[in-house]
Amino acid sequence: MHAESSRGRARCRAVLSTGACIWAATFVVVAVAMIGCHVDHDQSMLHPAGPRAGRIAALWWVLFAVCSATFLLTMALAAIGILRRASTLDGGSPLGNRFIFVSGAAIPAAVLTGILIASLGAQSADAKRDTDFTIQVVGHRYWWEVRYPDQGIVTANEIRIPVGRPVGLELSSGDVIHSFWVPNLAGKKDMLPGQVNRFWIQADRPGIYRGQCAEFCGVQHAWMAFRVVALEPEEFDAWVAAQAPAEEPPVPAEEEIARGREVFFAAHCDGCHAIRGTAAAGKRGPDLSHVGSRLTLAAGVLPNSPENLAEWIRDPQGVKPGNLMPRTALHPDDLDALVQYLQTLK
Ligand code: CUA
Repeated sequence: MHAESSRGRARCRAVLSTGACIWAATFVVVAVAMIGCHVDHDQSMLHPAGPRAGRIAALWWVLFAVCSATFLLTMALAAIGILRRASTLDGGSPLGNRFIFVSGAAIPAAVLTGILIASLGAQSADAKRDTDFTIQVVGHRYWWEVRYPDQGIVTANEIRIPVGRPVGLELSSGDVIHSFWVPNLAGKKDMLPGQVNRFWIQADRPGIYRGQCAEFCGVQHAWMAFRVVALEPEEFDAWVAAQAPAEEPPVPAEEEIARGREVFFAAHCDGCHAIRGTAAAGKRGPDLSHVGSRLTLAAGVLPNSPENLAEWIRDPQGVKPGNLMPRTALHPDDLDALVQYLQTLK
């Protein structure tokens, strides 16, 4: 009997020390991950730059505090329980049924109700907002079509907005389900084929905020990225004026650039891409009217530079396997001329 009890105690201590090790390791991993989040402010809901994200971040900190306190308290009680059982092995709770009811049912019910009210409050505060104007965003595998119907602008993978003004979004999809998420500005919103979901965002300070598709949509889901560029109102107005549809087709003056324009049509790039002011009106791929002024290529994969644009046209499947752009076999001189022409489209 005595030998059995000491074996039981040893087993309990072994279980306890293994459990403590697992929890300690988990704590270290989470702490390191959170330090990583803290260093990188890019694409983080913990560094809000607008009212919607601010409410989500505040709610996150409340949840973090409540859950951490609950976790620590529960682990402390579990440790006390295991130690007591290891030393006595007599069973039963010395604190009685009232303690079990209060700490096991009443307090959790109160805490969960409080969290539910806080979550619903954060949601309802964001439900509707009168917005200055509306931008239509269509998700495609694996890029973002961006339209400003009031301003007559079509672009891709970049959404420019003025700071301090709520901007409406109409979100939809051209193929499968995607999800629109700019963590620094707002929560997520699904983009569904055949349905328009309304949403709004607001940035309170100028900056470039990375967005990401948040619904698995295929092999390049992780590289379905975009940028929200928040500009001072006068900079935004200047951008709108510069993007407005061209009345006259732009006629490249330089011979090499004019040749690049010919290559664009000869290689049938216009089958998929549009350039306003020219005969190119393809709709399968991004509008290239101002491709030279974009920050990135291939929806965030490459910084926009002549070298990267050449690489992208030469081997799109090598840069981003699984996207819909086919390889275009061009003579190096033609490719060079084409890149020069596209880079002039600012
Ligand atoms: Cu689009 Cu994931």
